[in-house]
Amino acid sequence: MRFLAGVLVGVAVLGAAAFFLLASGLFEVAAAVPPGSLETHLARFALDRSISRRAPNTTNPVGKDADALREGREHYKDMCVACHGAPGVDPSEVGEGLNPPAPDLTLERVQRRSDGELFWIVQNGIRMSGMPAFGPTHKERQIWEIVAFLRHLPSITPEEEKALGAGKKDGD
Ligand code: HEC
Repeated sequence: MRFLAGVLVGVAVLGAAAFFLLASGLFEVAAAVPPGSLETHLARFALDRSISRRAPNTTNPVGKDADALREGREHYKDMCVACHGAPGVDPSEVGEGLNPPAPDLTLERVQRRSDGELFWIVQNGIRMSGMPAFGPTHKERQIWEIVAFLRHLPSITPEEEKALGAGKKDGD
């Protein structure tokens, strides 16, 4: 009984402390200030667990033929390059101001994700970050084409880099 009362008091004290921290306005919300490492690690852990729980366990049904890759590249150019950039292409100034930052999608930790996880992220977006949901505006097939292109992104050719805007200055 005494143990249970102790636990309840502990929970109440923690809840009150959390409330006062939030109510005090001390919690940082500026995009210009990077989060501490505890917040970054906790948020990434929760994000990865949430994505892996929800992502479909499917391999890409559109395959990776030339048509799918071309379609995927067109979508990537219009919808993604401004924030994520691409090999040979810098993100726009909008993309550079994001916090959390929009990662380089050729990174190993991104490419390690399953096809289903990449599909889920592009379809649903990531709340409280700049990553938009493309499900409301894109058909499932189009999202799978984007996923096919994401897989190809680390090894794109110089022609494909150019098609994504490599060699152009901001404002061109
Ligand atoms: C307005 C900016 C913006 C646009 C446009 C955008 N993203 Fe993102 N994206 C982000 C940000 C910011 C994150 C990081 C979210 C986080 O870490 O919590 C992200 C994360 C991701 C991730 C997860 C990376 C990881 O950590 O494993 C993938 C995959 C992704 N985006 C793909 C895309 C694709 C594909 C498109 C285009 C269809 C796109 N994004 C368009 C901002 C953007």
